[in-house]
Amino acid sequence: MASSHPADVDLLSDVARRAAAYLDRAPHRAVAPSASAVDALGELDEPLPDAPSEPQRVLQILDRIGSPATVVTTAGRYFGFVNGGALPASVAASWMVSAWDQNACLRVMSPAAAAFEDVALGWVRDMLELPSGCGGAVVTGATMANFTGLAAARHALLERAGWDVERKGLFGAPPLTVVVGDEVHVSLLKALGMLGLGRERVHRVAVDDQGRMRAEQLPALDDRTIVCIQAGNVNSGAFDPAVELCALARAAGAWVHVDGAFGLWAAASPRYRHLASGFTGADSWATDGHKWPNVGYDCGIALVRNPRALHAAMAISSAYLPSGQDRQPSEFSPEMSRRARGIELWAALRSLGRAGLADLIDRSCAHARRFAEGLRERGCDILNDVVINQVLVSFGSPAVTRAAIEYVQRDGTCWCGGTEWQGRTAMRISVSSWATTADDVELSLSAIGRAFDRARGGERE
Ligand SMILES: Cc1ncc(COP(=O)(O)O)c(C=O)c1O
Repeated sequence: MASSHPADVDLLSDVARRAAAYLDRAPHRAVAPSASAVDALGELDEPLPDAPSEPQRVLQILDRIGSPATVVTTAGRYFGFVNGGALPASVAASWMVSAWDQNACLRVMSPAAAAFEDVALGWVRDMLELPSGCGGAVVTGATMANFTGLAAARHALLERAGWDVERKGLFGAPPLTVVVGDEVHVSLLKALGMLGLGRERVHRVAVDDQGRMRAEQLPALDDRTIVCIQAGNVNSGAFDPAVELCALARAAGAWVHVDGAFGLWAAASPRYRHLASGFTGADSWATDGHKWPNVGYDCGIALVRNPRALHAAMAISSAYLPSGQDRQPSEFSPEMSRRARGIELWAALRSLGRAGLADLIDRSCAHARRFAEGLRERGCDILNDVVINQVLVSFGSPAVTRAAIEYVQRDGTCWCGGTEWQGRTAMRISVSSWATTADDVELSLSAIGRAFDRARGGERE
């Protein structure tokens, strides 16, 4: 057997020490990096050196320049966008995955990667209460999961119309209609664009004050329609009325695709399951591992009721590729060569267990409710019904709200971003990290309160 690599032990010990130091310091650092740390990234702008560098030296540069310029998403007070913070088991698994350097394309390339992915997909189906026969793919995020589910939809509807879209493309194909809610996430539109279905060639359905599609406003559907519905609006966290929408679609032979980037995980909690349960009637689902389940970046999951449609949309054959009974990961996903990200998904779910995942969902929602309550007490307007982990806050006029957001970000205790919600400027709070504690919420409430006072003070001056 080949000898081990003694030098790597020092390197890997060094990286472990540096990463642990980073994670230890993270809760005590401003969430956003300082301007000087961001400026120091300019040091990276050097010509590629002629001579090789020792890996230790490369690591040292990475840590010295990179670590201070990160946004601290791992420490429990990052409430921007909808970002999870990697669970310890997921971080550890990603190190193993990197050491193994497995290509998750084919089973023969890595029986381990394929097996962990199979198991992880099975657990996701189980936790989301989706049919056990669903086809699945582990992709980079919900954008690609939407792409993957919609590619299967495109295949199935056009096959029914006698058209082989993978072979012939969309030129001359029977037209498909795509229906979305007015509050559709932009990533779904991006996926439609990549599939040749058009970002703007969609029928938009009006939504209510929470961003939920109005089922009674659906256009006439038929068996060449894809209806895209949402479990968890990126701003309000609201869920489309899936039971009615799926029933109408089913009666017409339409395909229902669910963008459930984070909201679908409500199914994992007995307390919140009712919000997601109607979505089981759909045909395809997109969700993220790197949001609520706190798998490290990146990890998305696509599931398709009819695995044959997903396989037909994604599989390719060539003389050098194996064929047979076993599931080949790349036959269900857009990529061929791919990181074994199913392993990190497996590790996160294995470490949480059912109870841990339910607790993570429940805790995030409780923290979000506490944010809403604490901010109302401080005189802010909460613009959404806080149904899960999302809170939309107005501090008054658009100018005051924008100023308050800027002060929150500069203060560094926590980080929240801004949005426009139904004509109002708002701050978004998304509680999506396993690491967030009640203390983090109280510290952040105080910081947001200070920012609000400052923004109001500025208005009076
Ligand atoms: C509802 C919804 N869909 C899709 C996405 C895109 O997810 P990703 O960035 O993982 O591709 C998001 C991201 O926040 C989202 O909230």
